[in-house]
Amino acid sequence: MYKTDYCGDLRASDEGKDVVLAGWVHRRRDLGGLIFVDLRDSRGLMQVVFAPEQAAAHAVASEARGEYVLRVTGKIERRRAGTENPKIVTGDIELRATAAEILNTAKTPPFYINEDVDVDEQLRLKHRYLDLRRERMHNNMVIRAKVVKYIRDFLTDRDFIEIETPVLANPTPEGARDYLVPSRVHPGTFYALPQSPQQFKQLLMVAGFERYFQIARCYRDEDLRADRQPEFTQLDLEMSFVEQNDILDLMEALYNGIAAAVRPDLNVPQPWPRITYAESMRRFGTDKPDIRFGLELVDFTNAVRGTEFVVFKSAVDSGGSVEGICVPGGAEFSRKEIDALTETAKQLGAKGLVTIGFTAAPDAATDDTVRAPALKFLGIDMVRSLGRLASANAGDLLLMVAGQGGLRSLEPGSADRVKPALDALRRSVAAKLDLIDKNTLGFAFVVDFPMFEWDEGSERWSAKHHLFTSCMEEDLGILESDPGAARSNAYDITCNGWEIGSGSIRIHQRDVQERVLKLLGISEAEAREKFGHMLDAFEYGAPPHGGFAPGIDRTVALFAQESDIREVIAFPKTKSATDLMTGAPLAVDQAALDVVGLMLKPKT
Ligand code: AMO
Repeated sequence: MYKTDYCGDLRASDEGKDVVLAGWVHRRRDLGGLIFVDLRDSRGLMQVVFAPEQAAAHAVASEARGEYVLRVTGKIERRRAGTENPKIVTGDIELRATAAEILNTAKTPPFYINEDVDVDEQLRLKHRYLDLRRERMHNNMVIRAKVVKYIRDFLTDRDFIEIETPVLANPTPEGARDYLVPSRVHPGTFYALPQSPQQFKQLLMVAGFERYFQIARCYRDEDLRADRQPEFTQLDLEMSFVEQNDILDLMEALYNGIAAAVRPDLNVPQPWPRITYAESMRRFGTDKPDIRFGLELVDFTNAVRGTEFVVFKSAVDSGGSVEGICVPGGAEFSRKEIDALTETAKQLGAKGLVTIGFTAAPDAATDDTVRAPALKFLGIDMVRSLGRLASANAGDLLLMVAGQGGLRSLEPGSADRVKPALDALRRSVAAKLDLIDKNTLGFAFVVDFPMFEWDEGSERWSAKHHLFTSCMEEDLGILESDPGAARSNAYDITCNGWEIGSGSIRIHQRDVQERVLKLLGISEAEAREKFGHMLDAFEYGAPPHGGFAPGIDRTVALFAQESDIREVIAFPKTKSATDLMTGAPLAVDQAALDVVGLMLKPKT
């Protein structure tokens, strides 16, 4: 047997036990006589004491350096009173070495493994196998495994069965964002790696498995951000004979269960609010609201109607909106701070920021107590009423954005320039004023998403969720006449400003699916070619069904309190989709391309 125990599992109750441990030299202190080595294995640390009397073992410890791999034999002893280390769970005990051997040496690592310091990410990713030795990364992987195990147990206990679906799948209709895999057997044709198992899981419902789930790897060739990787993992699930609330209740119970099992120290407010898309946009300016703090949006559009202030007037006259937030204590902000906020708003499409600072309560506001560059255009009466509308107090600051906007922004040619800016402002002000409780997970469901959104690029409607999503019964009548107003049975889980997962009740009748495909500008011929299998399946007794898919990476990042999903993925890609360790993606030679009938275009 290589070793008898894990370092991190031993406790004071093991005093007197003879053990053999193996692991890495985490830290080594040579006190002249005694040598102390903190030995690290996958479960924790053990302090090992090498005394000069045990000459052979002591000689090994003298030679050992950081990250050397050692095996040590000895007896577990209590540490001398006053030398305990309460910071580690094995801090009451130590291993007194009687024998030791070096199993392997190690070069000096390019960064500290035993300290939680900031290290250049490129360096970390290039040597990911060393980065993963660090406690924080190791813990993140452990949390990930616990989350996935919890999910498997939870769903299996509730009659879900786990089924694998193909990774070599069919390209999606637009082909956008697909990773393609050339076929050797059929040159000139391609599989696509699945963006999600959506079609397969629906077909499993037609196949009669009423409750399916899978921990599914998905692939999307899209621009990367902190919450996006080209390959990522979803908990993919689907159920037959369910209503929306059945799925939401299940997800709420699942996530509350994960929280209790994995991070009982975090605060998860109950019950989760269920807010409509329209309400979320109105109150927070986004469909993934951070509900841990207030600073909700105030709509000033009606209040400023009739003003001659050109910034507001042009927005109102063109059917846009004037909205804002009230920042408690913000009247104290310096010019520089306001400039920075203006910059944030502009980056999100706002033309500028109108600010009104109240040094006295709005009702008592005078020209002298208001700090507002637009005061002379607005007049003190208007300023007072805006302050009242926002429930401003003395010392508060209104941040207002005017422009194209309103909920009908889903209509052609009217992208919202107001809400995205206010969403960004709201979050940056909350961070600045320290209004965010970092130990709270503010989950919410956002429901009643629109069916469609206008795609400026292709100038046609596209599915807001995906084209298999059903329309709310009461909006079926306006599907064709007013697509922008039709609401779907689609829902998201959001948490702390992130979209954690999405799902919907699906279409299960061929005629309804065909109506939606037509609306999306997909011809009958194309629909037959790309979706024939789905349309056909719907004609063989497809049950009503719906499902959900939370991202595992985002979920784990929440519970591990990481702000980038790369921190919870063992071997992630960089923001430019490369793997710095293996070098992927790599060029292949023409011989390999010949096999699949491909030729590269010459570089221009
Ligand atoms: P959707 O496309 O909204 O829905 O994806 C569901 C969830 O998957 C995660 N996710 C990602 N995570 C990391 N990197 C990415 N590039 C990435 N893209 C998506 C997010 C997201 O909320 N088939 C539907 C679900 C359904 O209707 O059942 C789907 O894939 O957490």
